[in-house]
Amino acid sequence: MLSPRLLSSTVLLLLSLAVMPPAYAEDSAKLNEAVTLRPDPEAGKKIYPLCAACHGENGFGQQQGEYPSIAGQHQRVILKQLLDIQSKKRINPTMYAFTDMETLGGLQGMANIAAYTASLPSNPNPVKGDGEQLGKGETLYTTYCISCHGNNALGNEEQYYPRLTNQHYPYLVRELSWIRDKIRKNSDPAMVQILQDFGNDDIQAIADYLSRLP
Ligand code: HEC
Ligand code: HEC
Repeated sequence: MLSPRLLSSTVLLLLSLAVMPPAYAEDSAKLNEAVTLRPDPEAGKKIYPLCAACHGENGFGQQQGEYPSIAGQHQRVILKQLLDIQSKKRINPTMYAFTDMETLGGLQGMANIAAYTASLPSNPNPVKGDGEQLGKGETLYTTYCISCHGNNALGNEEQYYPRLTNQHYPYLVRELSWIRDKIRKNSDPAMVQILQDFGNDDIQAIADYLSRLP
């Protein structure tokens, strides 16, 4: 039998593990702090025009997918990406300057902007692929990706799994090949491993399938 005190410290340890950011995060201490702050989406809205220049007023990104759709992405996912881009673990020279701590108002400012972006309705009409390999895309997704990204590819806020729906096809194709080829270095190692066996054709099929999910 565990003593009540040992039991309660075990419970506390488990609780703190539950909110721990993933080990592959660049700066898990910062991320851990950022996700525990109480965000103010209204304050985030005031900074958002900085982001709108590329991601659009509505956060839908740009049609060719050069700028991803970010509206409605999970808050924790957005925060992790902001910190990873800031620390250059995720190389993004276009956006790097906009992740400066002072510009964003520190971790609190980052949390605010992430909460505001997460609250925006997601893009109902992202760019899609050619529609020729949807069956293959669905089979691959269901076999290899659903365990983390979920039934309707809606991801998981707690686990930092991104939502993959309502996103532009060209962006999904680019990210999947960058993750596979280890150009984007901030991803779950298990996913990187799975993608090693994927050809460009497989990636296109999955991305097309995802870009059409509601
Ligand atoms: C100058 C253009 C530019 C500005 C301004 C900009 N971004 Fe980005 N952002 C990009 C590009 C380009 C990418 C995709 C890079 C890639 O393909 O890896 C990106 C990616 C992202 C991602 C990752 C999306 C994902 O699904 O992983 C997030 C989150 C993001 N931006 C949020 C923001 C926020 C919040 C702001 C405002 C503080 C902002 N961006 C300002 C260009 C910009
Ligand atoms: C072990 C869990 C896991 C599995 C399995 C997995 N992923 Fe992921 N995936 C993640 C995590 C975690 C991230 C976020 C990484 C980061 O922070 O950059 C991610 C990121 C992504 C992104 C980038 C999203 C964005 O907005 O930029 C895409 C696209 C993606 N996954 C697609 C897939 C596909 C397709 C499969 C199946 C072939 C798959 N994933 C399998 C965990 C997983």
